[in-house]
Parts: sequence; C-alpha cells; structure tokens
Amino acid sequence: MSTQSEQYVRIFDTTLRDGEQSPGISLNAQEKLEIARQLERLGVDIIEAGFAISSPGEVEGIGLVAKHVRSCAIASLNRTQKADIDASWEALKDAEAPRFHVFIATSDLHMEHKLRMTPEEVVEQTREAVAYARSKVSDVEFSCEDATRSRPEFMAEVVRTALAAGATTINIPDTVGYTTPDEYKEILETLYANVPELHEATLSVHTHNDLGLATANSLAGVQAGARQVEVAINGIGERAGNSALEEIVMALRTRNAFYGFTTGINTREIARTSRLVSRLSGYPVQPNKAIVGRNAFAHEAGIHQDGVLKNRRTYEIMDAESIGLEKNELVLGKHSGRHALQAAYADMGYTVEGDELKRAFKRFKEIADRKKTVTALDLEAILDDQSRDTSDRYQLERLALKTATGETSHAEVTVREGDELHTATGEGDGPIDAAFHALASIVGTEAALREFNVSAVTGGEDALGDVRVVLEQDGRTFTGQAVAPDITEAAAQAYLRAASLAAAGIPTPTIRETI
Ligand code: KIV
Ligand code: ZN
Repeated sequence: MSTQSEQYVRIFDTTLRDGEQSPGISLNAQEKLEIARQLERLGVDIIEAGFAISSPGEVEGIGLVAKHVRSCAIASLNRTQKADIDASWEALKDAEAPRFHVFIATSDLHMEHKLRMTPEEVVEQTREAVAYARSKVSDVEFSCEDATRSRPEFMAEVVRTALAAGATTINIPDTVGYTTPDEYKEILETLYANVPELHEATLSVHTHNDLGLATANSLAGVQAGARQVEVAINGIGERAGNSALEEIVMALRTRNAFYGFTTGINTREIARTSRLVSRLSGYPVQPNKAIVGRNAFAHEAGIHQDGVLKNRRTYEIMDAESIGLEKNELVLGKHSGRHALQAAYADMGYTVEGDELKRAFKRFKEIADRKKTVTALDLEAILDDQSRDTSDRYQLERLALKTATGETSHAEVTVREGDELHTATGEGDGPIDAAFHALASIVGTEAALREFNVSAVTGGEDALGDVRVVLEQDGRTFTGQAVAPDITEAAAQAYLRAASLAAAGIPTPTIRETI
C-alpha cells in the first residue's frame, strides 16, 4: 500500500459494519460474504466486515469474508478492550491482510456521560489497546469517536499516543454528523499542526449524514490531507447514514480536474453493488438518490429531453454506462440453452459453472416459461437467490390460492421437509396472509411476522417479485428473502427460509447492543 501515489485515496467500505447498524438491517454470514465478494469486484481497498465481539455469528461472518476475499484488507471493529481484539483476531486469523480498527470516544461529553472515564484513562486505554492490537497485526487503525466535538488539544494527545503505540491509520469521525466542510478541514489541519508525525501515517475521514453534509465533509477531508475515506454503499449507516461510496468515488472521478485524486474503484460495478446491497439489506434506494437512484439519469422535462437528444452533455455530467447502468435489454429467451446462460453470466462478469450453473439453469427455465423477457437484472437476481437456498429445511412444493375482493382468502400449501411432504390449508386477509397461516401450521412456529417488504427486480408488468420476510421468536429475528415471478410464491419461499433458520436456531445477527 505504501507504493500508492500521493493522489490515491483509499476506499474503506463499512457497509458490513456501520451500514449494518442501520435500524432493521441484519445480514447473516452468507449475505456478508456475497456483499464482500461484490465489494472486491468493485475494487475497494479495505472492507470493514463487522464488529467481532458483538456475537458468535458476527465472528463467523467476518471469518467467512476473511477466508474468501483475498484482494482487499479485511477489518474488524474493536473497543479498547482486550476481549474485543481477541475476538477480532479469532475472526481475522485467515485473512490475507487483516486490519484491527480500534476506537474510543474523545469528546468531553462522551467521556463523562457515556464512558464515565477521565481523559487520562482514555489516553491510557488507547495506548494499551493499540499496542495490544499491534502485537497481533501490523495494520492498526485508530478512531477518535465524536472527534468533531472533541477538544483539539486533547484529541491531539490521544492521536499522538495511538501513533506512538503503533497505529498506522488515524480516523477522525464526525460521529454525529455535526460538522461542516470548512470546519472539518480546519479540525484536520489543526490536528496535522499539533501532531506532525501524523504525516507518516494515513489520515482517514468518516462522516455521517445527519445534516446532509456527509459527502461534502469527506471531500473537504480529502482536501485537508486524508487519503482514506470511510463509506457505505447507498449511504446506509447509523441514523441518517454514512457517506455514500458512489458519491465520493463519482465526485472524485467526475471532478478529477478540480480535485486531482484517484481511487481504485471500477465504477462500472457501482450499480450492481448498489442493487445487491439494497436487496440484501431490505433498504430500497430512494428514486432521486445521487448516482444510483433510478431517476439519477432520467430526464423528465421536455426541454431537458430535447437538450440531451441534441447533446447528452447539456444535462448529463456522467455517463450512465460509467456506473454500469447498461440498457436492461433482453439477454435470453425460453429457448436459450445452458451455454447461452453461462455466456450471458460471463458477459455480466460472473463465472458460473458446475452445480451452480445446473441450479441456475433450472431456475432460469422456470422463470423463462412464465416471463416474456429474461433480462440481465433477472439473471443477477437468480444467482443472488440461489446463493441463499442451499440449506433450507423447508422447500415450497405447491401453492394454490382462492381469493376475491372483500372475501376471506384461502390457501393450500405443500411443503417438502427432507423426504416428507406436508400439506395444509389456511385462511386470511388476502392471499399472502392465507398462505402464511397455512405455512405456519406446517412448520409449527410461534414466530410473529415482524417485517414484510416487496419490491420488483425490474420494471414492467412481468417483473420478478423480490420479497423479504422477518420473523420474530423469543426476542430473536430470522430473515428470509426470495425472488419469483409471482409475489405470493416469493413471499411463501421467503417465509419458509426464515422458518428454516428459526428451526435451525440461526437468528439474524445484530450488533446494536454492543456499541
Ligand atoms: O461514527 C463513528 O464514530 C464510528 C466509529 C466506530 C468509527 O462509526
Ligand atoms: Zn460511524
């Protein structure tokens, strides 16, 4: 990494850690791995895969990412406690390039009311934790939580201590999204003046969007000398979210003549990454979201359309293609064979072979029989979907519905459990409610339905439906997700996936209690 040019800005992606702290988002180990693999394709430098101490499931998720994602550094978050660092070590032991990220709050407010520690104790814990982390790995990042509301002299003392103890990256987070671009720049410049040895390390910025200033603040940080930016896909994260990867990267690229910085991101993977994160997190992207919103490249006003037709640059500052938004044209039809499917996936950048190809082809045929056109987005959803369905205890065999407006709906379902088939009926307010009642009587669950989200994979009347179901039992949540041409079928499959996880006792991990 030290060979990178002065103008190279490292992208530290925290979708799987800070992003996962968004209310309602919880990813299991397989989902973390799927996102991490896509982040690797996208070209991020560091993936913060989670907060190991928060749960055994989190150690497993980080461990899986560390084992399979080899071309990015993999980070795990830690408080300044030995147990946290030991848990991160356990999670990162197989990583090619492990990083420990250690943090402690440095503002008077946090030290007094949250940590109940004196400034001297904070300095001492910083020294001990960074030194302990450094005794295990050579790449240690240290963050001053609530840095933008910390006293500059005290923060300088903590940063000096962290550097002396071996920290290689110093991160200055705007934890509560309070600062402004000019002020943030000044905070960082003052820190450099107070701690000249900081020039020997990497300075990092981490901003939150409470005032809608996250991207502007991070860019100001880069201008002040930061060469690492911490971001999340689609800007997900605590409260109003983190700075969005796509915004930072496209701002640096589109305004390269102004900023003069580069990143290692393959921008053509941005749209796909955004879709994957949205699908697995259950967080839809707002239509007017910068870069990845569905309207970001749409022109509604006649005068704009006219201008764009004459010359795209009149109203477009970026090409849709540059973020990987090709026209979503028909790629395959129901007569296409297995080789055509494999070639289409190869075109999209996926290597699909062996059993994975066999299963994808079976699913493709089922969908192509029922859907007029099968697009690149549908193919992506098939792969994504089948990556989740390998270990399900319950499989949907058949679903029959009788429903009419204003009348009770009836469902009959048949579910496979190993070699056995179970059939049951249910009634409800609408077909999905009826199907869920029938399924609940088969799986015998006491779980309550906590969340139910439906979205369409593409536009058009025959779009695949994508359904996410969250069940809650004994205070634990279980998440299932599925795509199918029919949303009731997708809902039933998603329900059974959540029920399979409940039966196996694999809750959706949550890290909120620890932070
Ligand atoms: O916002 C924040 O301060 C954080 C730290 C843990 C880096 O997420
Ligand atoms: Zn944060």
